[in-house]
Amino acid sequence: MRILVTGGAGFIGSNFLYYLKAAHPDDEIRCLDLLTYAGHLESIKPLVDQKYVTFIRADIRKSTDVSHAMKDADAVVHLAAESHVDRSIHDAFPFIETNVKGTMCLLEEARRNDIGRFHHVSTDEVFGSLDINSSDKFSEKSCYSPRSPYAASKAASDHLVRAYANTYGLRTTISNCGNNFGPYQHPEKLIPRFITLLLAGRKVPLYGDGLNIRDWIYVEDHCSAIDTVMRNGRSGETYLVSGRNEISNRALTEKLLSLMGHGSSMIERVADRPGHDRKYSIDDSKLRNELGWKPRHSLDISLNETINWYRDHRNWWEALAENVPPPF
Ligand SMILES: NC(=O)c1ccc[n+]([C@@H]2O[C@H](COP(=O)([O-])OP(=O)(O)OC[C@H]3O[C@@H](n4cnc5c(N)ncnc54)[C@H](O)[C@@H]3O)[C@@H](O)[C@H]2O)c1
Repeated sequence: MRILVTGGAGFIGSNFLYYLKAAHPDDEIRCLDLLTYAGHLESIKPLVDQKYVTFIRADIRKSTDVSHAMKDADAVVHLAAESHVDRSIHDAFPFIETNVKGTMCLLEEARRNDIGRFHHVSTDEVFGSLDINSSDKFSEKSCYSPRSPYAASKAASDHLVRAYANTYGLRTTISNCGNNFGPYQHPEKLIPRFITLLLAGRKVPLYGDGLNIRDWIYVEDHCSAIDTVMRNGRSGETYLVSGRNEISNRALTEKLLSLMGHGSSMIERVADRPGHDRKYSIDDSKLRNELGWKPRHSLDISLNETINWYRDHRNWWEALAENVPPPF
């Protein structure tokens, strides 16, 4: 299979390319990435050196770039995005440009090239926020209610994907997943931020009361879900993805502190993020029942592996950690 992966030099994208190499060594993979502050060619260098991945530095917002990269592809897996909520609060424009206009540009080229499968990688944040005491879960039938500029831009991109499926018959799938963690994640995101601060002997900044609940998944499990949906999902359908690891930010922080041999004195409480979503919770039974997918990694073991990865890969993250914007 010839697959074009956008955003393959980013966090989930690079893990996805390693996943593909292990699971489908005979596939032909092209990676299109602009290498913004969030993209790192060195993350996927072994795959490029082994010629499993052909790397194309290009911009999803430019039709000519996209058209060249998409030629003769059987499938597109679209991960390229501006992805950090805090940055979207500082300045939302790049999120609209990349996540909305960039997705539109890819869809148009996919339609022109009659691509067999366009898989769009999205987030549970498009569904908004649940009450902290609610037992409700997001499902494929939930209404969209995005509450941050990032979430709104991803919601818009999901709508465009469905519009292209409905209007032009483009063969699409969408997956909406919870919070990921694992190797190659930029130290601006919560788990690598906390790990890298603790490795540097510094305190970790916890937003507000820390009771916000997230549904965490180890990135390799998300990658296997993307692959499953891209190959076997029904055209036009959406599948929600969950690691079934719901935990508050405070409990997660305490878990990280304990795994790294620290106490709660290393927590520094900071003012809450504006509009901070309280709770995400995902019902992934459609993906599990229809396509037989399930995650393979437990939270504690994969957190430990992630800590070890950051401990062993200081060269990868140390320069990046110096330029992380301050939290709100
Ligand atoms: N990280 C999560 O927890 C999570 C959860 C659910 C869904 N998602 C979605 O998964 C996708 C990947 O997320 P991530 O965390 O790996 O993001 P990331 O920020 O680590 O990587 C994004 C990649 O996109 C590239 N990119 C940005 N603008 C581009 C452009 N104009 N043209 C080409 N490439 C461009 C960057 O260089 C980078 O390599 C995103 O669509 C995100 O919304 C992420």
